Amino acid sequence: MRVLKNLFEQNKKWAKKVKESEPDFFLKLSKQQNPEYLWIGCSDSRVPANQIVDMLPGQIFVHRNIANVVVHTDLNCLSVIQYAVEVLKVKHIIVCGHYGCGGIQAAMENKDHGLIDNWLRHIKDVYRYHQTKIDALQSEIDKINLLCELNVLEQVTNICHTSIVQSAWKAGQQLAVHGLIYSIEDGILKDLKVCITKLDEISQTHRIQ
Ligand code: CO
Repeated sequence: MRVLKNLFEQNKKWAKKVKESEPDFFLKLSKQQNPEYLWIGCSDSRVPANQIVDMLPGQIFVHRNIANVVVHTDLNCLSVIQYAVEVLKVKHIIVCGHYGCGGIQAAMENKDHGLIDNWLRHIKDVYRYHQTKIDALQSEIDKINLLCELNVLEQVTNICHTSIVQSAWKAGQQLAVHGLIYSIEDGILKDLKVCITKLDEISQTHRIQ
């Protein structure tokens, strides 16, 4: 137990604390999960899904990767979306980016970051779509933060274009896709005011009739 000793100690304390406040908490959770939300966020250690919205285990289904990207062929992310939508029947899918994201910053550079550059290409594409608007800004941090927001909106669109989400809508399932952004500096979550709830709200090009 010398290895990762502090983690085991902290875990015991945490489990004890939770049990004290709700004795059958773990027993109830062990029988089923019934989350209303699927959260797709950045892997950044400063953006932990449950904590920033003050939710307990069992309340959010989570997928995280570098810079909260939803790639059309990423079987990992697509499997998470499929399970969340078809089995758990979540009512909301949230893409949550964060200002000052290192992945977004790296995508704007022309440096060699190794393998990860292949992942960052998807963000570079978003930069390319909006380059005029982004490059018109003066400060580097403003440019990064605008791309952080635009990246969230792009990933919301990508989620809506999946066959999974479109099938759910066609079957009459209640499902909304939202874009949010989090500020590490003050802990505040901002709504990017995008909320897609049905097939007619997505581009005709991607619509499966
Ligand atoms: Co990040």
